[in-house]
Amino acid sequence: MRAIGQDEFGGPEVLGVVEVERPVPGPAEVLVRVHAAGVNPTDSWHRATGGLAGAVIRLGWDVSGVVEEVGLGVTTLAPGDEVFGMPRHPLPAGTYAEYVTSPARHLVRKPADLTHEQAAALPLAGLTAWQALVDTADVRPGQRVLIHAAAGGVGHLAVQIAKARGAHVIGTARAAKHEFLRSLGADELVDYTEADFETAVEPVDVVVDTIGGAYGPRSLRALRPGGILVALASPEEARLADTARPLGLRAAFMAVEADQAGMREIAALAEAGLLRPALDTVLPLADAAKAHELADGRRTTGKIVLSVTD
Ligand SMILES: NC(=O)c1ccc[n+]([C@@H]2O[C@H](COP(=O)([O-])OP(=O)(O)OC[C@H]3O[C@@H](n4cnc5c(N)ncnc54)[C@H](OP(=O)(O)O)[C@@H]3O)[C@@H](O)[C@H]2O)c1
Repeated sequence: MRAIGQDEFGGPEVLGVVEVERPVPGPAEVLVRVHAAGVNPTDSWHRATGGLAGAVIRLGWDVSGVVEEVGLGVTTLAPGDEVFGMPRHPLPAGTYAEYVTSPARHLVRKPADLTHEQAAALPLAGLTAWQALVDTADVRPGQRVLIHAAAGGVGHLAVQIAKARGAHVIGTARAAKHEFLRSLGADELVDYTEADFETAVEPVDVVVDTIGGAYGPRSLRALRPGGILVALASPEEARLADTARPLGLRAAFMAVEADQAGMREIAALAEAGLLRPALDTVLPLADAAKAHELADGRRTTGKIVLSVTD
């Protein structure tokens, strides 16, 4: 099969098409014929440095496709089922390929009215938003939620999930992206190039921060007493918990993990029309390097997706 491979760490140019053996599903796994694979910042991190694996791996976690074959003991999926998910994360998965294996329970049925490209845009960014807002922050109706980089892959899904939970949603983004974010349900927007968010908005109950650095301590200043900062950009932000505690605040670094329950919630929201991924750019698999160049600019609105079937 065709896949994207690399021989060394480096910039987007190290990525190229390789011919490799089609994987075989193990017990409790399925083989998926990949139709589309989402691109995420962690893919670039792994391409450039080996990331969590510390070695060259086959990139990609987001997948939407069709079950081709099931391994021993799989009872919940059958060949022909349309599925999507984020297999194995934080272990390698390798969805930038024509076929990928996945634990059956890391996948769920693809909502019929989403294309494979749309479905492949949802898992990693959507699970991150779900696990941050719902599992970690336990967002309640009427709470004020501030989402940084609200127009990004995680941000634009977080806006919709927070809205679906009944929250008052505030986002940071450049002014050119405000109309897009209003169309997703954002109630208030801050152009972070013009104003300091911590003074521009009334105190909030929850901050979801995908930017990191100075945004961590600054976001603590935006919280109400008892509020929580969910930091996503860097594990070093785990330290923010110690800064937050004496101030009567909470802070946590969260790492997204494979999660069928979360995928079911995401599929249900999509089926109800409450969660729609925005596709910034769709490129063919062979253009993975071009997709990474675009992603590394960190200016995209919504998601970049690789289309794998011709
Ligand atoms: N911990 C985890 O498990 C986890 C999971 C997923 C992602 N992440 C991390 O979360 C971060 C975001 O991921 P993503 O997929 O959402 O990235 P992305 O799609 O590349 O984000 C791009 C967006 O960021 C916005 N942006 C850049 N700087 C900004 C700033 N200072 N203030 C507000 N918006 C800003 C850009 O909008 P403008 O043009 O308006 O600047 C653009 O729309 C990455 O660092 C990623 O590694 C962590």
